[in-house]
Amino acid sequence: MKSSPSFHTAFAAVVAVSFPYTSATTLSNNFPSRCSGLSQSFHPDQQTTVLVAEFLPKGSNFTNPIAHPTCAGGWLSKSILTDICRLRLNVSTSSTSSVIIEAWMPANWNNKGKRFAMVGNGGLAGCIPFDDLNYISSLGFATVGHNNGHDGDTGLPFFNRPEVVKDFAYRALLTATKVGKKAVNHLYSQNLKKSYFLGCSSGGRQGLKAAQDFPEEYDGIIAGAAGNNWNNLMSSFSYYWKFAANGNNPPILTAEQWVEWRDEAIKQCDQIDGVKDLVIEDPRKCKLRPEARLCAPGKTWSSNKCFTSAQVTFLRKLYEPFYGNNGTFLFPGFGPGDETITSLWFATTAPQYTVDWYRYALLNDETWTVEANFDLDAVDNANRIDPYNISTYKDLSKLKASGHKLITYHGLADGLLSHEGSDRYYESVVRRMGLPSAKLDSFYRYFPISGLGHCATGNGAWYIGAANQYIDAPATTVDPEGGVLMSMVKWVEQGVPPERITGRGFTAGGKLASTKNHCKWPLRNIYLGGNPTKKESWGCS
Ligand SMILES: *[C@@H]1O[C@H](CO)[C@@H](O)[C@H](O)[C@H]1NC(C)=O
Ligand SMILES: *[C@@H]1O[C@H](CO)[C@@H](O)[C@H](O)[C@H]1NC(C)=O
Ligand SMILES: *[C@@H]1O[C@H](CO)[C@@H](O)[C@H](O)[C@H]1NC(C)=O
Ligand SMILES: *[C@@H]1O[C@H](CO)[C@@H](O)[C@H](O)[C@H]1NC(C)=O
Repeated sequence: MKSSPSFHTAFAAVVAVSFPYTSATTLSNNFPSRCSGLSQSFHPDQQTTVLVAEFLPKGSNFTNPIAHPTCAGGWLSKSILTDICRLRLNVSTSSTSSVIIEAWMPANWNNKGKRFAMVGNGGLAGCIPFDDLNYISSLGFATVGHNNGHDGDTGLPFFNRPEVVKDFAYRALLTATKVGKKAVNHLYSQNLKKSYFLGCSSGGRQGLKAAQDFPEEYDGIIAGAAGNNWNNLMSSFSYYWKFAANGNNPPILTAEQWVEWRDEAIKQCDQIDGVKDLVIEDPRKCKLRPEARLCAPGKTWSSNKCFTSAQVTFLRKLYEPFYGNNGTFLFPGFGPGDETITSLWFATTAPQYTVDWYRYALLNDETWTVEANFDLDAVDNANRIDPYNISTYKDLSKLKASGHKLITYHGLADGLLSHEGSDRYYESVVRRMGLPSAKLDSFYRYFPISGLGHCATGNGAWYIGAANQYIDAPATTVDPEGGVLMSMVKWVEQGVPPERITGRGFTAGGKLASTKNHCKWPLRNIYLGGNPTKKESWGCS
């Protein structure tokens, strides 16, 4: 659910590349003409149509051809990072549904391990992740992304179209993977060697879905900030929103008050780990006390920057779990440290993701509203419907049997979607499979990342070379040593599993400010002494 600025760029065309490419000597076998020839030569099945096959040289400009207002953010005239063959396909998945696929296949592939990578989506997931295609293809992976069966970060296309919901739950990903692999093998005239998946947020859920149901497709799966337990996630936004809205005339806090509360939350918990650095190293130890900022009689926000009783009640609620009928646990509360991001769920109107999910995917009822219709019975009903098992909460028996690998990670300062969802998923796998961590380690490892918000950015060493991060990572080299993608490659291709994942933090000006080797769950980062911005000053315990 990485939020991107939405702006209108109606039907912008792909910027034509008019200058001759200059790196011909590095290209073998007429790569550009073989690429454009895919329009004629690539016909894997009746369902697949080639929309575009074009060579894009390094440094050329590319513009997102689908200018859906909820998708276009950031994709006006980006510079291509390496010579690629770009293939755009339309694959029909049923008589009423189809998926748009983009394969970005680098010229420099043969001597980069002949790897395939599939990237995930975000939010309601109708946006092709072009930044990830650009970044990961520059690392030498033939990289494939897709629109998950509909255009735009909106649920409207689900309305009365169950096949589109099915694509969203898993089929678009599976289809794009199978067709994408065929395209890669066809272009290079040889078979790819290893296959990877990486995604964050909704993309994290897609990764877990693959790990649970079709792990044979990927040698290594990286699932970040996974939106699994999907129906309850969609419901949870409105549960907390309704609590804030009822009798409190939303928004319950102003933007200025959210900033003040975030700073207070960090202040209350920052030094539990022994270092004052705006990073709450272990939020599980952080028990916030909003009551500390309650207005004394006669005092107000304007006089004393304090909160009303209703606001304090809301702030306490924010961190408590969401329980359903009969006290059933449904979803964790929010985590501390990035409350200005949490505030995005508390606008004057009800959370759009809940509205879209209930109206169009679950109930096909355009009149449904959070205000009139959202209650705990509606939540039970959502879990009963659970379209195409989108909840994504099974164990990993198939993954274990496949011999393939899964890495999950989650920002410990994720204010949109609490890390506790990933903690709980890990522990549920331990219980359901009856396997302690030492046994899970052979195929499933989880790395909580302190100082990382939702997928990207944060106050700590947040940059781990993961999905959705490249665009926000200033002044980094690609392919960071110890990052999550290349750690997975090392695990898959050399049999060396990652013990820690290296993160990097930056100054506001984009200079490298810190490094940290983040520990593997259930261990936590602990401060050993010395300069806290250096990874050598931290251990695991
Ligand atoms: C790419 O777009 C930018 C911004 O519009 C422009 O300044 C630059 O000249 C373009 N580069 C090429 C190679 O067309
Ligand atoms: C993709 O194909 C389907 C039919 O299978 C068609 O309805 C749809 O318009 C096509 N989309 C594009 C962008 O070509
Ligand atoms: C809650 O408990 C009641 C009484 O035991 C039972 O009838 C009902 O089915 C339960 N509801 C849920 C959602 O489990
Ligand atoms: C959901 O999963 C269950 C259990 O694995 C399976 O029996 C069922 O067919 C699945 N439903 C759908 C719609 O895929």
